[in-house]
Amino acid sequence: MRLLVTGGAGFIGANFVHYTLRRHPEHQITVLDALTYAGNEASLAPVRDSIEFVRGSVADAAVVDELVGRSDAVVHFAAESHNDNSLRDPSPFLTTNIIGTYTILEAVRKHGVRLHHISTDEVYGDLELDDPAKFTPETPYNPSSPYSSTKAGSDLLVRAWVRSFGIEATISNCSNNYGPYQHIEKFIPRQITNVLAGLRPKLYGQGENVRDWIHVDDHNSAVHAILDKGRSGETYLIGSDGERNNREVLSMILELLGQPGDAFDQVTDRAGHDLRYAIDASKLRDELGWKPQFTDFRDGLAATVDWYRDNEAWWGPLKKQVEAKYAAQGQ
Ligand code: NAD
Ligand code: DAU
Repeated sequence: MRLLVTGGAGFIGANFVHYTLRRHPEHQITVLDALTYAGNEASLAPVRDSIEFVRGSVADAAVVDELVGRSDAVVHFAAESHNDNSLRDPSPFLTTNIIGTYTILEAVRKHGVRLHHISTDEVYGDLELDDPAKFTPETPYNPSSPYSSTKAGSDLLVRAWVRSFGIEATISNCSNNYGPYQHIEKFIPRQITNVLAGLRPKLYGQGENVRDWIHVDDHNSAVHAILDKGRSGETYLIGSDGERNNREVLSMILELLGQPGDAFDQVTDRAGHDLRYAIDASKLRDELGWKPQFTDFRDGLAATVDWYRDNEAWWGPLKKQVEAKYAAQGQ
């Protein structure tokens, strides 16, 4: 299978490339990545000789057309992915998430190539803390931020191209991922690297917001299950029952790094901060027989802490700039 992986130098995309080559060394992989601030070629260094890497934008129709034309399937990870950045400057979110997805759709339509579109549970908005409900494929879209609204828009484009033009495509909406190679602007790696760099972790507001954590390899095994057995036009929700509030996750990080439980700062809350996400993944489990492998969050988190401890060369050069950006807005 010739796979085109967009955004393959980012967190989940790079892990997808590693995961795929471990299990399917016969697959030919081309990565298309613009290497924005979030992309890092070093994340692909261990497999660099086994893949083709093309630096370019998913919004560049000529590049996309050429690459899609010589692929059997496209797995579309490329996106602007950080909520806080979307509050500072929404513009690249529209270009990459909306126009980029439109550009991919036109190319797969022209060449008759299968698409799997990677999306997020944030398209559904948020849930109350005491609500027993979880997101299902039937939950109405209700995104809160510029990031999640552009992801919602991209999902709707995919659905429209399936219905109006008959393209072969699936969509997955996953909850919060953790694991190696995640950019240090994100919650878990930011707090781990703060401690490792001698800075205090930063908790937004009261830290009561709940995220449904899943290990990135479980996300990617689900993507493979969908590529293998998913039905065209369908949406699959990916999650592994990992609900925890931010305070609990931070306490675990502090404990794993041998810090006192109160060694953190509470900082300005995120504007429009979604309260809780929770995924009902029963369609994926029941129809496709998928199950997560990382069922103990503490073990997965401990391995992630070890990875950042062992890979300072990967994140160290970014730290000062990332923290300066947060400090400028009191976070
Ligand atoms: P990331 O920010 O770590 O990586 C994004 C990658 O896309 C980077 O390598 C970047 O260089 C590349 N990119 C950005 N704009 C591009 C463009 N115009 N053309 C080509 N490449 C471009 O993001 P991530 O956390 O790995 O997320 C990947 C996908 O998964 C996104 O679509 C995101 O919405 C989705 N998702 C993420 C999570 C999560 O917890 N991180 C959860 C669910 C869904
Ligand atoms: O749910 C899936 C989404 O998960 C993906 O679509 C996004 O791409 C991904 O970034 C993630 O979005 P979140 O906004 O939930 O992730 P983030 O890591 O930015 O924040 C997680 C929680 O931690 C959130 O409640 C905000 C809080 N937070 C974040 C940072 C960076 C803090 O308390 N302190 C921080 O320093």
